[in-house]
Amino acid sequence: MPPPAEPHDGAVGAHSAHSARSARSIQTAQTAQTAEPARHPAPEDLARAHELRRLVAHHANLYHRLDAPEIPDGDYDALVSELRSLEERFPELALDGSPSMAVGAAPSPLFSEVRHDPPMMSLDNVFSAEDLAAWMERLARIAPEAAHADLVCEPKIDGVAMSITYENGRLVRAATRGNGVVGEDVTANVATIRALPESLELPGASGKRIARMEVRGEVYMAVEDFEELNRRQEAAGEKVFANPRNSAAGSLRQKDPAVTATRPLSFWAYQLVGIEGLEMPAGHRAALDLMSECGLPVNPLTRVVKGLDAVVATCREWQGARHSLGYEIDGVVVKVDDLSLREKLGSTSHAPRWAVAFKFPPEERSTRLVDIQVSIGRTGRATPFAVLEPVVVGGSTVSMATLHNEDQVLRKDVRPGDLVVVRKAGDVIPEVVSSVLSERPEGSRPWKFPAKCPSCGGPLVRLPGESDTNCPNLDCPDQRVARVVHFASRPAMDIEGMGEKRAAQLVEEGLLADPGDIYALAQGTLAALEGMGDLSAANLIAAIESSKSRPLDRLLVALGIRHLGPVGARALARAFGSLDAIASAASAGAAGEEELASLDGIGPVIAASISAFFGSPANLAVVDKLRRAGVSFSSAGNATLPPGASGTAGGAVPAEMPAQTLAGRTVVVTGSLGGYTREQAEDAIALRGGRTTSSISSKTWAVVAGTAPGAAKLGKAERLGVAIVDGSHFGELLETGLLPGRAGQAGQAG
Ligand code: IVH
Repeated sequence: MPPPAEPHDGAVGAHSAHSARSARSIQTAQTAQTAEPARHPAPEDLARAHELRRLVAHHANLYHRLDAPEIPDGDYDALVSELRSLEERFPELALDGSPSMAVGAAPSPLFSEVRHDPPMMSLDNVFSAEDLAAWMERLARIAPEAAHADLVCEPKIDGVAMSITYENGRLVRAATRGNGVVGEDVTANVATIRALPESLELPGASGKRIARMEVRGEVYMAVEDFEELNRRQEAAGEKVFANPRNSAAGSLRQKDPAVTATRPLSFWAYQLVGIEGLEMPAGHRAALDLMSECGLPVNPLTRVVKGLDAVVATCREWQGARHSLGYEIDGVVVKVDDLSLREKLGSTSHAPRWAVAFKFPPEERSTRLVDIQVSIGRTGRATPFAVLEPVVVGGSTVSMATLHNEDQVLRKDVRPGDLVVVRKAGDVIPEVVSSVLSERPEGSRPWKFPAKCPSCGGPLVRLPGESDTNCPNLDCPDQRVARVVHFASRPAMDIEGMGEKRAAQLVEEGLLADPGDIYALAQGTLAALEGMGDLSAANLIAAIESSKSRPLDRLLVALGIRHLGPVGARALARAFGSLDAIASAASAGAAGEEELASLDGIGPVIAASISAFFGSPANLAVVDKLRRAGVSFSSAGNATLPPGASGTAGGAVPAEMPAQTLAGRTVVVTGSLGGYTREQAEDAIALRGGRTTSSISSKTWAVVAGTAPGAAKLGKAERLGVAIVDGSHFGELLETGLLPGRAGQAGQAG
């Protein structure tokens, strides 16, 4: 985390008047604004600068020396950024030794000291295309040839910087960055890293010997290895690590190298500092190649580009792919390739001018937890969620986050009033990760799950052995609303205009008790509702009308039969052809249930649930309303169409089969893909002649990695050399049948 930062585009610091003072000191860091230049700082500027220096030093120490950060990296970056902007406005505040300029932290007395020559510098951060443009303009002002120079883009690995020296081919020294000038000698620990060659292989048959070579790079832990380590730690009752970076740092700082040896650390070399016995290459890319030829691991994503547009495109591309790499990256480092040009460009006191770190928007930020509330779903499940002071995280403003269930709240011990860390990675729903305990207000108490349903006031029930708490009242208004919203949702009956707000209004007005009532709504009644009007009413009625001809599998999904998802629904629709045939099998006792259970994708649990559904008079009444309204109950000729298959939102029969771009290909989908449910994605592949499987083998052609992909799957794909396609390229893959990375890399030298 720590290099000094500037604020993210659009970052806002949202606080309400009741925020605790200590929280404000962190929160306001999000609004580093440039004010009018003033000659002397006001007393509050002095006080704030003092406070910021204290906070930055405190959090840098927690991060660098104790490997136990309390606040997310994004918060830290914002604090540094606020301090730097104050120091820029009032240069007299930029005291010697300000933590805004510090690189890392002083070395720990646990290890002996190693002097770095040249010092291990930090990098300046940028956060937007404009920042990158300004950086390139600065370079061109110093050396005009920089405008056309080759730039090397490398993933910015979220690990621990390390200097490693080989003498006569043998690893003799490894040292952490420390404060940049003096680091810690961790040779014995680093020597246990399997990815590092014990002795360097010499390139070619030149007969030359490398007498000495210093490389710098990042020690990191792959996500899968980190998860596995935490499982082991937990089973052994040992400390679990918050993230792969902390576990890498903690593993390196062991006094006993035997412990480090059990930790799955990896390394990527990103800088050749010096070499004796072989000529130093003239460019960075060539130096990376040389290190790689010597047997040192060099990140394969490295890419040489020219010009701002290509740099920005690379940053965006890797930002989209960051969760499918199998290791954590927090940005892209852009470096001038030509080493003599680097010399001309020089360095500031703490960072080279010839390189810059483009930081991705932080996926974790802290904010105040205003309240914990409970929402009631269509099956009555009561889910606790956090009401937050709005915070920009993962590229959007978040004011609510899930807390999953009672046990999760208790395990995390998050309490109203706490400063909490909120995480939003990609399309995944935001969640509360933890509380910042040092900021907990005095007198706070653990949160208790409410005994009564917030919607109907009835008792909430948690059965022994279950993690969910439920509202068993089928007439509960929130359940009614949720059932209607589910029925009308896009993968189900797809009724545009029947969202949460509208459904709640209609339930409240007594116009809807269940989804069957949707078809009895009259245009005139709708038009008279608050916020409706003639046009919206007509549109809603038209959407309701057209939903009547949705295919049977989607009607089955819409009914909300417990455990029945789109795959099972399709199997049922295919096998039975009509809702009545399914209902009669479901009502035919054990033999019927067996018939249902024999279908691929159904099984005994879903079969029992289908028969329970059709055994309930309330459900049969809904089915009856649908029948009388003329909703199609048969699948005759209908096929579910995934989004994008013919440019429509789904539901219609495709006018023509899409091109067979994936004919004969086996594809594995992992993680969630924006715009597609898993089943829609599988359908889209099948419609183009492809096959999907759930496990990866050497026969797999490509793995499509959406948000939160399975780390084990990605690891296996990497081991087997199977192409991994980022979920954001799924549409492209369907369309062209080409692997985006390979098709799109023309003109790239890396
Ligand atoms: S180059 C003088 N390249 O980022 C420049 N650093 O914020 C030396 N990092 O201390 C750094 N990936 O720990 C460089 N591909 C990469 C990197 C990288 C991660 C880390 C490194 C550095 C920090 C600066």
